[in-house]
This record gives sequence, C-alpha cells and structure tokens, in this order.
Amino acid sequence: MIRSLRGRLFVGMTAIILLTGATGGVFAYRWAFGEAIEMQDSILIQLASLAQAGSFKGGQPLQGVEEDTEVWLIELGETSRGSSDDRQLFRLRDGLQLATWNNQTIRVLLRTRSDGSRFAVAQPTAVRDETARDVAFRTLLPIAALIPCLMLVTALVIAHSLRSMVRLAGELDARRADDMTALPRSHMPSELHPFINSINRLLRRTGLLMDQQRRFVADAAHELRTPITALSLQAENLDSVELPKPARERAAALKQGMHRTKHLLEQLLALARHEAGQSEPPEMPVAALDCVAKDVVADLLPEATERSIDLGFALVDPVMVRSEPGMLAAIIRNLLENALRFTPPGGTIDIGIYREGGMAILQVEDGGPGIASTDMDQIFEPFFRGSCPEGEGTGLGLSIVKRIVDSLSGKIALENMVGIDRSGLRATVRLPIARDPESLPGKGSGENQAPQLSG
Ligand SMILES: Nc1ncnc2c1ncn2[C@@H]1O[C@H](COP(=O)(O)OP(=O)(O)O)[C@@H](O)[C@H]1O
Ligand SMILES: [Mg+2]
Repeated sequence: MIRSLRGRLFVGMTAIILLTGATGGVFAYRWAFGEAIEMQDSILIQLASLAQAGSFKGGQPLQGVEEDTEVWLIELGETSRGSSDDRQLFRLRDGLQLATWNNQTIRVLLRTRSDGSRFAVAQPTAVRDETARDVAFRTLLPIAALIPCLMLVTALVIAHSLRSMVRLAGELDARRADDMTALPRSHMPSELHPFINSINRLLRRTGLLMDQQRRFVADAAHELRTPITALSLQAENLDSVELPKPARERAAALKQGMHRTKHLLEQLLALARHEAGQSEPPEMPVAALDCVAKDVVADLLPEATERSIDLGFALVDPVMVRSEPGMLAAIIRNLLENALRFTPPGGTIDIGIYREGGMAILQVEDGGPGIASTDMDQIFEPFFRGSCPEGEGTGLGLSIVKRIVDSLSGKIALENMVGIDRSGLRATVRLPIARDPESLPGKGSGENQAPQLSG
C-alpha cells in the first residue's frame, strides 16, 4: 500500500499510460499489418494487369520490382501441364487466393489472357508477412517513445500540483509556536481550502485558549502579589523584635522564602504583562542600550565584587534601540544574573555593546560551565532550568528575555565558548537600531566588526 499521495497518483497515472499505450499499440499494429497486406495485394493486381497487357513475360526479372520482394510471374500455358505444382495452379479459378507451390504457401493471382493462356503472379506469404510485420512494427515506435515522455510529464505535473501542499506544511513547520495568525488562502488550490479553514479555526481556538491562560496567570500573579507583600512585611517586622537565636534563624529562612516567592511572582507578572502587550504593540520609545546596561551593571556590581567576579564592559558603544528602557533592563538583568550565578569566584564576565550590520548587539560572556547541548533546545521554555540547575531560580528568566527580544524584532543566540584561554556561555542579543547616534553631525562614524570580547 503506497502511503504517499504523490506515489499513488504516479503509479495510477503510469498504469493508465501503459494500458492506453498497450491497447493503442495492439490496435495500431493489427491495423497497420492488415493495411500492409492489402497494399501488397494491390501490387500483385497491378503487376497482373501489366502482365496481361503483355508488358512482360514469365522467366524474366520483373521490371521495377525489388528482388527481395520475391514476386514471381508463372506462365501456365493454355492447358494443364508442367510440374504437378503448375498443374495444380492451373486448376485454380482466376482471382486472388492462397495456394501451395514449391513447398511454400503463396499468395497468388491467376489471370487468363485473351489468347487462352493463363499466368499467375505469386508471392510467398512468409515474405509478405515479414514485410507487413516490419511496417506494423514501425507504427509502434512513436507510441513506445511517447510512454516515457508521458511518464515524465505526469511526474512533473504531480510534483507541481502538490507543491503548494508541501509549501503549506513547510510554512506551518517554520511557524513560531505562539504565532496564531491565520494561514492565507490565496494562491492555494481550492482543494486545500477546507484544510486551511480547519487549521485556521483550530488556530483561532488555540489562540483564545492561550489568551485565557495568559490572563489567568496574570490575574493569579497579580492577586497573589498583595498578600505576599503583606507577608514579607510581616516577616521583616520580626527583625525589630528581640528573638532567641533559633527563632531568628527560622525567621531568616522565612524571609528568604518570601523573597524567592516575590521574585517568582515578579517574573510571572513580567511575562504576563509582556504577553498582554503583544496583541497591540504600542509605539515604543527610543532607549539607549548602553545607558540602560550601565545602570544594570552598577546595580549588580556589589554582588559581583562580593564574589570577586570581574564584571565589566569589554566594549561599549552608544547605541539606540526602539524599546521601553524597562524591557532592555529586564533582558540585561536576566542575562547578567545568570552569568553571575554560574561564574565561579575569581571569574570574569564581559559585556559588549556595539553595532554590526545595522543591528545593535548586546553580548554577555561569562566564566561558567555553559549550557549542556541537550538543554539548548528547551532553554527558552518557561520553567525550564536545565539538567543541573544551580542556586535559586524560576526558570522564567530566559523565556522572558526571549519574548522581549522577539517582540522587539530581535534575535537571541546562546553558545558555549570553547577555547584554551576561556570557556563559558556567550549570550548574543541583536536588536534593530532605532537611530544611529554616530551619524549625527559632529560625531565620528564607524562600525565595529564582531569583536571577540574575550581573548
Ligand atoms: N550563563 C549560564 N551558564 C550556564 N547555564 C545557564 C546560564 N544561563 C542560564 N543557564 C541555564 O538555563 C536555565 C534557565 O535559565 P533562566 O531561564 O534564567 O532560569 P533561572 O535563572 O531562573 O534558572 C538555568 O537554570 C541554567 O540551567
Ligand atoms: Mg535566570
């Protein structure tokens, strides 16, 4: 059983072509064979008429008749005599018929001249049949040549007709998981319209479901924020109370737990807020990527110093991108927090901000272990924390980064650096440049070519 539609169509069409070719071939062969025999009969008749008019006599080569056609003129005289074969011929009536002569089957035409003498024009049936077969066989050649051509054309037509289906599948495969825009029906064969309609209906339903889910997460996070904040405050209030040592230790653990929960809620809210804003993107302001980055670094510097990590800019160019500064800060903060968490004490974190090919590039290189290649596929999924998660976290950071970058029409790539002098994770974010400050009057110009921050 052939599963592919293309295969089935091709096999079916090939069978039809072969059947038509075979039937047509048989009929053409038989028709041509019959025609060739009739043609040879008419030649015999013409020769007989010439012989009757006395144009030539038996015993001499027939003028204008090829030798290998083996047409003989047999003079039978006025009475039955000569060999037994001749006598037998003489006994036949005038006209065309089959006879045996010299141990061969022949096609013979007998005529009687006005002087009473009789003659026969004869040709062996074996020769006639061979000629007829030859002629008939030639009619088969064009049919035989046509069959492979037809099969080729069929294969091309099938491939062409199914191309739009293949293209549709490719488009669906290449889609982002959260892309719920309807598939276009124009330029698609009408047979595919029901499928496209069904897929579009499904996309609409899934989109609604996703919206509901987002709203639920946003509402839940929002509703939880107030009580958690209140609980945090209560926990912090414990600081001002004189407590025995074991109680103080437990209160510290409680406070840390509250802090973690607050962080998770904030991340969830950021995600939900961001997704809610995606349906109608507002006109984004222009923000200086370098300035935002400097602010975030300043914020994280105490933590880095505490762990003796060298956190700093390897390269920083003024670059403007179209974005809410808060969104840029969220990107940089999440990447730097990860880098800080995974870089061991004494390690280095290099930040680079520069322009390349019309894009603003933000690069963070850390001194950590990098991400296992098996985790790379899922690393941007919410709540995914890799096969060996470290420290506290929610697994939401990179998915928030990815969504923000996507919404800014940017790209993010994570790669493990492998080098003798350096290993770690390199995160590269590319965002479209909003305005080129270097092109403003009074400033120099120049574009940095993908610098290696390390090395
Ligand atoms: N710089 C890094 N080095 C090594 N692993 C990383 C790095 N950044 C992220 N990861 C891996 O990706 C996972 C997901 O990161 P993220 O989405 O920020 O969540 P979280 O930081 O809350 O764990 C992390 O748990 C970690 O396993
Ligand atoms: Mg993180």
